[in-house]
Amino acid sequence: MKALVLSGGKGTRLRPLTHTTAKQLLPVANKPILFFVLEQVAATGIEDVGIVISPETGESVKAAVGDGSRWGIRVTYILQDRPGGLAHAVQTARDFLRDSAFLMFLGDNLIQGGVADLVSEFASDSREAVILLKEVPDPRQFGVAVLDGDRRVVRLIEKPKDPPSNLALVGVYLFSPVVHHAISRIKPSWRGELEITDAVQELMNMGGRVEARVLQGWWLDTGKKDDILEANRVVLDEYARRAVEGEVDSSSQISGRVQIGKGARIVRSTIRGPAVIGECCVIEGCFVGPFTAVGDRTRLSNVSLEHSVVLEDSELCDVGRIEDSLVGRNVRIRKAGDGRQSIRLFVGDDAELSV
Ligand code: TTP
Repeated sequence: MKALVLSGGKGTRLRPLTHTTAKQLLPVANKPILFFVLEQVAATGIEDVGIVISPETGESVKAAVGDGSRWGIRVTYILQDRPGGLAHAVQTARDFLRDSAFLMFLGDNLIQGGVADLVSEFASDSREAVILLKEVPDPRQFGVAVLDGDRRVVRLIEKPKDPPSNLALVGVYLFSPVVHHAISRIKPSWRGELEITDAVQELMNMGGRVEARVLQGWWLDTGKKDDILEANRVVLDEYARRAVEGEVDSSSQISGRVQIGKGARIVRSTIRGPAVIGECCVIEGCFVGPFTAVGDRTRLSNVSLEHSVVLEDSELCDVGRIEDSLVGRNVRIRKAGDGRQSIRLFVGDDAELSV
């Protein structure tokens, strides 16, 4: 079997961060989301992995992932010239996939427990496709599946106004090569994309057997700001370990599962886990609360930061209390020292601030 990881797309909902970064490279607990995906793919035993990239962010994905040897996989990059939809990405990868069955994994989705069992089960039985589903409270914003019994899929509907079930499609699919035939028969949707839900529906129309598995653990789709914060919360909660490699002065307090990277300095501060502080950070006179990740070389001084993600090389100084925030790379936020009550901003396109 092969694997196809989708790391193209537009990422419009995560602007402005996605003006300069692939959304799949945004970190959760200081690790790019795509690395979690590649770890889970590698854990299935699949070695041949295609990564779909876009012209805008493909080079940064290549630079971060390399040849895949770090995970024991061989990576082939597949350039998708435009974000033509998930089925268009599969079509673009046709030469790489050839006649192999494959696992398709969206590069911005995380699944608790990984997909190794799903893959080994698929490899041992003959079905045209297996899709992974998750019960969600409001299915209207997802692709939704209707099952006949607890496994067989009879219908898929994209973003239904009146959902026939609460089972949403998670970004993990297993396909036999017949899917290429189904994709060749579908037309772009109203939004101009070749939809994977239409391809799977077509597969069923052609008489193919499509089965579903319902995921019991968590599923994190990191498409929007609050999703990234939630993913950071869940992943820190599950994986953070206490590991203090940086320096902590005697008037600081580190409580709970806190990771502090090499070369970091914590001065007169309290850090409460689960939290992760990157390498060479300087944190002075701060409270860093639970569910917070601070990227490498970031400096915090006299701030209280909670339930937030701050990327690398940023500086937050004397700005009081910050919560539920996602701050990009190389950002400067500081108090204007002239005693006036005004806020002075130099903010990029598509930014969002609540003051
Ligand atoms: P989406 O989140 O559905 O789309 P998007 O990345 O364009 O984001 P937005 O809606 O905010 O503009 O994509 C799911 C995953 O699939 C994501 O990792 C990007 C990837 N993808 C491709 O690789 N090619 C594509 O043509 C599309 C649409 C998505």
